[in-house]
Order: sequence, then C-alpha cells, then structure tokens
Amino acid sequence: MRDHFEIRDHDAAGRIGRLQVPRAGVTVETPALLPVVNPNVVTIEPARLREEFGVEMLITNAYIITQTDRIRDRVLDVGLHEFLGFDGAIMTDSGSFQLAEYGDIDVTTAEIIDFQRRIGSDVATPVDVPTPPDVPRERAERELAVTREALADAEHADTGEMLINAPVQGSTYPDLREAAGRHAAGTDLDVFPVGAMVPLLNGYRYADAIEAVMAAKRGLDPDCPVHLFGAGHPMMLALAVAAGCDLFDSAAYALMARDGRYLTVSGTEHLEAMDYFPCSCPICLEHTPEDVRAEDDRERERLLAEHNLHVTVAEIRRIKAAIRDGNLLELVDRRARGHPAMLDGYRALLDHADQLEASDPVSKDAFFYTSHESARRPEVRRHHERLARLAVPDRLLLTESKPPSTHEYDEVWRLKPPFGPFPRALSETYPLTAEVPERTDRAAQEAAAAGVRRLIEEHPHAEVTVGHDGWDRSALARLPDAVVAENLQELGR
Ligand code: GUN
Ligand code: ZN
Repeated sequence: MRDHFEIRDHDAAGRIGRLQVPRAGVTVETPALLPVVNPNVVTIEPARLREEFGVEMLITNAYIITQTDRIRDRVLDVGLHEFLGFDGAIMTDSGSFQLAEYGDIDVTTAEIIDFQRRIGSDVATPVDVPTPPDVPRERAERELAVTREALADAEHADTGEMLINAPVQGSTYPDLREAAGRHAAGTDLDVFPVGAMVPLLNGYRYADAIEAVMAAKRGLDPDCPVHLFGAGHPMMLALAVAAGCDLFDSAAYALMARDGRYLTVSGTEHLEAMDYFPCSCPICLEHTPEDVRAEDDRERERLLAEHNLHVTVAEIRRIKAAIRDGNLLELVDRRARGHPAMLDGYRALLDHADQLEASDPVSKDAFFYTSHESARRPEVRRHHERLARLAVPDRLLLTESKPPSTHEYDEVWRLKPPFGPFPRALSETYPLTAEVPERTDRAAQEAAAAGVRRLIEEHPHAEVTVGHDGWDRSALARLPDAVVAENLQELGR
C-alpha cells in the first residue's frame, strides 16, 4: 500500500492523482509535467515556472551538479531550493542518463543518493541502467540485474523523508519490463519511472513506447505513481496518460527552442517556416513569427521556450479536464490524427483494451464515436462481456431501425454499431447512450457483428434474426451461420 499517492478520478488507464511529497511539504496534482532545469543553463527562471506556468514540481540533475565544483559547493551550502529559487517539489536524476549517453560515470547509487539527500532533493534517483531498445536479450537481462541492485542500495540508504524513484527498465522486451515493474513495486521505493524511453520517443516510436509502458504497468500495482522518463512533447502526453503515466519530465520545451522549433499538440514546426502562430499564449499574442525571428539568439530561444512550455502545461490541463469529463480517449483520438506515429501509438494502446478496461469507469459522459479506432475502445469490449449476463428469449429480432409494429418474435432488441445487440431497456445506460455517426463505418459494423456472435455463443438456444442497414460484407461474414440477416434498406423499412 502506497499512502503517498491518492487517485481521485479515472478514465481508461489514466488518472488524476495527488502525490504527497513530504520533504517539500507539498502535494502535487497529477498528471504533472516536471520541466527539466539544467543547473548550468537556466532558460526560464524556476520562480517564474511556478508563478507564471503553474509548475508544482521540477526536475534537475544531481550528477551534473557534482561535476562543477563552483555549483556543487554553492548547492551544498544553500540547498537546491534556494539555489534554484523554487519552493515547489524538486526531483533529481542520478547521472544514469549520462551513463547511457557517454558509457561511464564515476558515482555509485549509495554516493549519489546521499548527495541528493544532502542538497535537499525531494525525490531522488538511484543509478539505474537505461538499456536502449532492440539490444540482445542477454544484455537487457544483465543490465536489469544491475538496476535491481541499484534499487536495493537505494532501499538501504538513509533517506529520511525524501522519496525515491525505482526506475523500470527492460529495453523492448515486454516480459522483462513487466518483471521489472513487479520487482520495483515489491520494494519500499516510492515513484516508478519507466526508463530508457528517450530513444523510442526521439524516433517517434510511440507504439513501442506504449508497449513498454503497458508491460511495466502490468507488473506495477495500480496505486504506484508512474513517471515516463524523458517524455514531454505535448503531442503524446494524452496518449501516455491514457496508458497510465502520471509524471513527465520535459527538456523538449528548452532543447527544441534552441533549434528554433515551435511545439504544438500535433507536432513540431520550424520558426523559419511559420507565417502565423496558431496559439494564444502570452508569447504568441504579443509576437509574430517575424518578430521572433528578428530577435537575438538568446531572446528568440527564451520566447520559443516560453511558448513551448505554455502549450505543454495547457495540454496537461486539457488532459485533466478530459479525465474528469470521461472523454480522455476522444482526446487521444484527436491527437492521433495529428501524426501517423501517434496513430500507431493509439492503435497499440487499443491492442490492450482489456488492460484499459480494468480501470475504466463503468459510467461517464456519452461515448463519442470519432474514428474507426473507436470500435476497439474498452467500452465496446465491456459491452460484449456483459452480453453473457443478459436473459435472452428463444426468438429474438435485433434491428438497427425501429421495431416492426407487428411481428412474431418474443423480443425485439436494438442493434447499434459498434456495440451490437442490447435490450431496449438498456438504451439510456452507459455506454449505449453513445453518439455515433449516422453513416456507420465497416469497423463499427464488424464490432457490432462480433457482439451478435458473442451473444449467440453465450446463448446458443436463441434463434436470432438481424435487421441491418446495408452492412458491409466483411461485417455480415462475422455473423454466425445460424443468424438470419435481412437488409432493411432492401426491405424498404
Ligand atoms: N532520463 C531519461 N531516461 C532515463 C532513465 O532511463 N533513467 C534515469 N535515471 N534517467 C533518465
Ligand atoms: Zn504560444
């Protein structure tokens, strides 16, 4: 039981939570974005992050601090909060990222955890090994064993009230990720970052990233706060939240700004090629792309970084509102239209509809059918499961249109793509109140046909007739042979 993380609302595997950070004396609402602050190069003053951007928690790198004598001495002297001028919660990383990038660092978990405690970090990180994607399995296993030892060393360290990260590695092997998640959840550590995601995210491999997260989540417990290390592009936050991630850290807002890049919720634009800013943050209201191009390097970088951070924190607020309203998957669907890699990520998420269903609320605001991916949402799956529990008469008509005024059936049920059959009495219950387009598509018809098949598998005694509105052959082919199918359009009803 982890009593420092409380979940308030759910949608799909996404949640709104409260992470208590005792050493900082604050409670951080999740999903939360932790801006990365490089102690050597501050792009936006941390005090402004809190006041102007509403940032409750940031992340900086303890290892980088140890590498510069002048900074190290000052931070040890005044503490991290005073050094950065930030009175929210501060997470520190350990140098593992530098280990992954440069192959070697000269610090142990025991040393760096102790250093993080001495500088006043609120959430510290051991020296895990971020195994890159696609390596041979032996390497992933060997490095996972090293990460496990790092977690053990962190458990034995004297940490006081400081929370500790337990990174989950395992490269692109879902079973290793799951085992690593289970092991991490079994420690008494506090926050669970899914690691080594940067190569996947930089390569737009969102489907692989989602597979890694879903695997880690299968091993972790539902009450574990989950951090997606290195993720902060606003385009993918809704997807990652829907998969069950609670914390993100973004260097993207600052790194991209340095390269003249302007982030949006559907991708990355180049300032060079922009005529208009499609945003109403304070920066975009007061400047045109031309104005920003005319600034010197430093000012241009600052302006772009501020816009980039504004869109990112606005997306986090939009995600929270979507969880509260129960339409997070509609938001993910919209984001998936912005970039093909996001569509891959969304499809990978829906491959795990069973896993999403476990935490999806049984009732929320109306389900909107917004793309053929909607046919694979967990609510459709749950409806099909529910068909087993319904009482079914011997002679049953399922119809997409109004019931006929006279008929010889025992009952007439509705047939609504993508859900399929249900008794009229359930029409006003979630998710059958769904708003669906009048022109249904093949995916919705196929899902409805799968519902009919399920109904008959569960209730083989029933004689079922289906009245459909000109379904596609691929959907009709999914109906069991015993079903009589009538095309209502041809019958002229
Ligand atoms: N930053 C980005 N990825 C990682 C990771 O896998 N581990 C640690 N410690 N920091 C990271
Ligand atoms: Zn803007």
